[in-house]
Amino acid sequence: MTALPLYRAPEELRAALAPLRARGDLGFVPTMGALHEGHLSLIRASAAHSATTVVSVFVNPAQFGPNEDFDAYPRMLQDDIAAAKSAGADVIFAPDKAGIYPEPYRTFIEVEEITGTLCGRSRQGHFRGVATVVWKLLQIVDPDRAFFGAKDAQQVRVIRQMVRDLLGRWEIVACPTVRESDGLAMSSRYCYLTNEERARAAVILEAVRVAIARIEKGERHAGRIRVAIMERIEAASLRPDYVDVVSLGDLAPANEMNGDVLIAVAAFAGTTRLIDNVCIRIGDHVEERLP
Ligand code: PAJ
Repeated sequence: MTALPLYRAPEELRAALAPLRARGDLGFVPTMGALHEGHLSLIRASAAHSATTVVSVFVNPAQFGPNEDFDAYPRMLQDDIAAAKSAGADVIFAPDKAGIYPEPYRTFIEVEEITGTLCGRSRQGHFRGVATVVWKLLQIVDPDRAFFGAKDAQQVRVIRQMVRDLLGRWEIVACPTVRESDGLAMSSRYCYLTNEERARAAVILEAVRVAIARIEKGERHAGRIRVAIMERIEAASLRPDYVDVVSLGDLAPANEMNGDVLIAVAAFAGTTRLIDNVCIRIGDHVEERLP
């Protein structure tokens, strides 16, 4: 089996992609590596839509806080290349830090308002780092479409807003969250969990599901839904970082829920921070939707 072409330098990738554009649409899946089925589902979605699929693997220092897990973040490029190939990727882009942030580096992108809630509140500067790197990766790859996971719903909203505001021409596609059989959203950070923490982590989705069942029965009060989720998570000895019910449009807290609503949870199992969320549309009935 031949390995996929791997490029490290932005200029080399640009040159390699130039002739491939004539073959048809270019799809792009940005990742930080340690690929799992969630990432592979994005690569498959891209491959189904595109003549060429580019996957980037870059653990972006700008989106990690000073006390976060940048150094410990799993790195396994050779395994990632094989997995990406099996899912239909054609090209791998794995730049080094100097390729993305040439010294002295001074330019960042700040998306306002919608980065002040949820993960943006508990991870100061996180979305500034995400927006900056995603904009740069989109500029380098210049795809027709880029694919992102609904698991990081706020990230999808922030990227859509940035591309719209800065007049980017790339289509941003959200794909459903891929879960383990017990409902836990797949994550590259699993590798940090003990077996016991892993077993308790499944309560995050369970709690959100129980809340949605209450909404289906007519509950519209966001505060009661938050408390119900919080209680279940604490009962499983997870430490909630936040439990929020926000309107999907502006990610601002909803009081009476209606229309498109995002229920989002971040909680610590031991020292590992896990996130999950479900977007719902509340109308005559309640249905799940993508962010
Ligand atoms: P990373 O966490 O590696 O995720 C890369 C992409 O895979 C993101 O779009 C994420 O939402 C998606 N993903 C992760 N777990 C998923 C799951 N269980 N189901 C479906 N999709 C899933 O998100 C990032 O990297 C970075 O912030 C990045 C966008 C690459 C910028 O550095």
